[in-house]
Amino acid sequence: MSGGLRIRAATEADLEAIRAIYNESIPRRIATADLEPQTAEARRAWFANRDHGTRPVLVAEDAQGVCAWGSFTNFKDRAAYAPTAEISVYVADRAAGRGVGRAMLDALLGRAPACGIDRILAICFAHNEASLRLFRSRGFTEWGTFPDACVMDGVRRSVVILGWMP
Ligand SMILES: CC(C)(COP(=O)(O)OP(=O)(O)OC[C@H]1O[C@@H](n2cnc3c(N)ncnc32)[C@H](O)[C@@H]1OP(=O)(O)O)[C@@H](O)C(=O)NCCC(=O)NCCS
Repeated sequence: MSGGLRIRAATEADLEAIRAIYNESIPRRIATADLEPQTAEARRAWFANRDHGTRPVLVAEDAQGVCAWGSFTNFKDRAAYAPTAEISVYVADRAAGRGVGRAMLDALLGRAPACGIDRILAICFAHNEASLRLFRSRGFTEWGTFPDACVMDGVRRSVVILGWMP
């Protein structure tokens, strides 16, 4: 990625951009198991119901504004899962294929120790080649598969759990 990308903690003012990037991905049926656009209310609750010290949300900005976001989210809400988090990385279509996703992944991995996280799960569709490549490129390996766990537009889709630990 060339210069000009700034990665910082997200604020409430970024939520509409985060939601727009997420919703852009839904019709492709490759990134998320959501089938309908996410509401502003749901995205606000996602942001509010987290400890930002241990489960941060980051955004990447280029000259045109927010072009990607990433987060650590509880894999399970049970307290003993504190060291384990699920990672998400979403890049706007307009910024795809320029290294933004990898820069966001690196930013999150860099923050993991301060968040008390040393087990990271990336839960990806088996047909999401871009995300599998991205996470594998940073040492994530396959920890499991949910065969045909989802149905999208009548097609059964398997889900792969990629895991990372130091
Ligand atoms: C996955 C995603 C984050 C990648 O972001 P990106 O900025 O386009 O990716 P980068 O430019 O940093 O490239 C990272 C790797 O992904 C690969 N990649 C990117 N787009 C790809 C595509 N459409 N098909 C295949 N590989 C692709 C790149 O080749 C690169 O791997 P390489 O170095 O081995 O060649 C982006 O496609 C996205 O937001 N997808 C929708 C959300 C999603 O699926 N998130 C992952 C699950 S949380």
